[in-house]
Amino acid sequence: MTSAIRADHLSKVYPTSSSGARALDELSIDIPPGRVYGLIGRNGAGKTTFVRIAATQLAPTSGRVEVLGHDVMTEERDVRLRIACVPQESRPLYFLNTEEVVYLYLKLRGLDPPEARRRTRDALDELSLTEYRRRSVARLSGGLRRRVLCAMVLASDAEVLFLDEPTTGLDPIARRQVWEAIRRTSREHRTILLTTHYLDEAESLSTRLALIERGRLMLEGTPEDLRGRVRYPYRVTVLGSYPRDELDSYGRVSPIEGGYLVFAREREARELARRALERGNRLSMGPVSLEDVFLEVVGRSIEEEAPKDDGEEEAVEA
Ligand SMILES: Nc1ncnc2c1ncn2[C@@H]1O[C@H](COP(=O)(O)OP(=O)(O)OP(=O)(O)O)[C@@H](O)[C@H]1O
Ligand SMILES: [Mg+2]
Repeated sequence: MTSAIRADHLSKVYPTSSSGARALDELSIDIPPGRVYGLIGRNGAGKTTFVRIAATQLAPTSGRVEVLGHDVMTEERDVRLRIACVPQESRPLYFLNTEEVVYLYLKLRGLDPPEARRRTRDALDELSLTEYRRRSVARLSGGLRRRVLCAMVLASDAEVLFLDEPTTGLDPIARRQVWEAIRRTSREHRTILLTTHYLDEAESLSTRLALIERGRLMLEGTPEDLRGRVRYPYRVTVLGSYPRDELDSYGRVSPIEGGYLVFAREREARELARRALERGNRLSMGPVSLEDVFLEVVGRSIEEEAPKDDGEEEAVEA
């Protein structure tokens, strides 16, 4: 089966980068078609750079990317006809109203007028934008403009959709409406590459995920695969008093309001849960969240890559 997006040893150094740092560093990734694929990582990790290269907006320094089997550099037109993109920073055309901007976008993509009209109506309805349909985009709030962009792209017939932080700045209800629209789109067997800093969102929508850090792939797989890669895959919250030295023998302990949070392996987690219940503590136990995985893996990478003190920095007088 042809991959939706396949990157092979992809690197990017921005010409304006004074340090020559690689925004992407030999990134290889294979994104299967017809699913939601989550791309997560810290600020500056390289997510938007990857999206822009795959969406034919930016040239790589080396390596290659194919979208639905077409090379983004040499078959740019074939790629562009099949994709749609919500960029991280962008706003819809100001001088049009909400309905016009979605309709025009769909018409420009080649949909016939009745189909474009039907899809516009459904998309505005899906993202609760119908009441704003006659309002000029210039007079919409920031979150409403973002929703208009999502409506344009999610209403399109593109086979691959790039959504770069589509829900940033949206209220909790609008976020969930975008989630539903994303799910609906993936049920139509289209591929969605989603970047987000909301890890609950990444986990609940994505079939597979990639965690990137400093332009490199750190982890890739299903949410379950990612959880399996951390040292302590379980979290146990113990409320009430408990001897701290005893807790330390079960795993990694962090004090929290009213008790402790313990990250542990499965056997130790079960044992701790049993002991804590016997002692009369209240507790909850479950697998670690994607956020826990992120904090552990990225945290470890930051520690490993922290520049060693080579004594060249000027000493600060105490
Ligand atoms: N136009 C540019 N010129 C120079 N450097 C850039 C440019 N765009 C991004 N960078 C640098 O490339 C690296 C990756 O940036 P990128 O925007 O891809 O990160 P990101 O993962 O999308 O981050 P965020 O979560 O903040 O959106 C960063 O070090 C950034 O400073
Ligand atoms: Mg970004």
